[in-house]
Amino acid sequence: MKDNSNTGKQEGTRTTSDRFSTGLGVLMATLGSAVGLGNIWKFPYLTGSNGGAAFLVIYIICTILVGYPIMIAEHSLGRKGRGDAVSTFKKLAPKSVWWIVGAMGILAAFLIMAYYTEVAGWVFAYVFKSFGSGLLSTDPAVTTSVFTSLVTNPVQSLVWQWVVLIVVSAIILMGVTKGIEGTTKKLLPILAILLVIIGIRSITLPNAAQGLSFLFKPDFSKITAATVLTALGLAFFKLSIGMGAMLTYGSYYGDSQNIPANAARVVAADLTVSILAGIAIFPAVFSFGFEPAAGTQLLFITIPSVFASMPFGKFFMILFFLLTSFAAIGAMISLVEVVVAFLVNYAGMDRKKATLLTAAGMAVFGSLAALSNSSLSAVTIFGKTFFDFYDFTTSNIFLPVGGLLLAVFTAWIWGWNKFHATTSNEGTITNVSFTRIIFSILKYVTPILVAIILLAGLNIVHL
Ligand code: TRP
Repeated sequence: MKDNSNTGKQEGTRTTSDRFSTGLGVLMATLGSAVGLGNIWKFPYLTGSNGGAAFLVIYIICTILVGYPIMIAEHSLGRKGRGDAVSTFKKLAPKSVWWIVGAMGILAAFLIMAYYTEVAGWVFAYVFKSFGSGLLSTDPAVTTSVFTSLVTNPVQSLVWQWVVLIVVSAIILMGVTKGIEGTTKKLLPILAILLVIIGIRSITLPNAAQGLSFLFKPDFSKITAATVLTALGLAFFKLSIGMGAMLTYGSYYGDSQNIPANAARVVAADLTVSILAGIAIFPAVFSFGFEPAAGTQLLFITIPSVFASMPFGKFFMILFFLLTSFAAIGAMISLVEVVVAFLVNYAGMDRKKATLLTAAGMAVFGSLAALSNSSLSAVTIFGKTFFDFYDFTTSNIFLPVGGLLLAVFTAWIWGWNKFHATTSNEGTITNVSFTRIIFSILKYVTPILVAIILLAGLNIVHL
């Protein structure tokens, strides 16, 4: 997208120059949003804390049964509405209150960014730490102390978070087509190849088999309703659905792009990257005696041990954190874009001002998360630090509720005729029976399943 300010006042209107220029660009940009710290950091940490393989199985079911249909719904609504999350609802359902779903998404974007920028800040910091030799160790005590000294330092935590926000804002100011399409296209495949290399080293470590069976041999005995909600929330988070990011991206899609096919590729690629990250991490966890349930620090304390045990380890470690920071940037761009698109399209704000204002707002929310391990470690909401509170409420409440409402809107308000017309590109793709299934899932399965998981997982209803 070039400068949007000329079309900004016309609600929900986009010129062809706003759209992604090629089919590959659409796929890569969507992937750029989906693949990020959710895959490399969050997926391993939650899988480790929730017992391994059984969690993975539930997560995969949630991804296919709930995530994939919602991604199709968001892309379709977005392409039809051709606007930001709020304008699209106002356009597709005038005189109703459905725009609140879009507004909720904008709030969710702030809350997610508040802690996402902090984790991204750790990744940025690790790029630099990788050049030294303090990190290259297989001793849990050593790698843990490097991490702890970073996160308990309030100045470093804040500064890295601001660096992240400045980098992301600068990229956004350059525009969607150049910024997103350009970078992600080149870097994601390299990240995937690097993960394969790390994975090969990890599974050839002594006792690697234990890590693989942790990841792939399910034991459902420890699964609770809260675990299922966590898996569902992770599925939403990883696919960037439930808060209007994919809806906003859908508004940039050209009329000839095949939405269901594109979404399937995104889901498959996103899942592949996560599993590769799991294979890179868990064998090493067991081989060197790390704790799989170490929580948010898992990636940062374990992955250096794999590099410490491979040739050219330092080089690969620098490359790994560098590529991970690029993946994180791609994902953050989509989060910031939800807010910026709203401010530009709906509020008629100039694109530059909108971006700076959004970044400033995120810095305010974010600083509370950045200081969660230092100055504010004793401040808690519902027993959680700001960091954990943002993490928990966005994935386990905002995104599932947003996804549920998006599914209900698509199937019950927008309806079959419009859904089918959009997903089949006005009848030019013959996929009626497939979209029928997706539509029925959105209409019945998603709302009921998500509602049950939410109520049970939050302990509102006891099953
Ligand atoms: N999916 C991204 C990841 O895995 C994070 C992300 C980007 C996101 N945009 C989003 C999560 C919108 C929820 C909603 O890192």
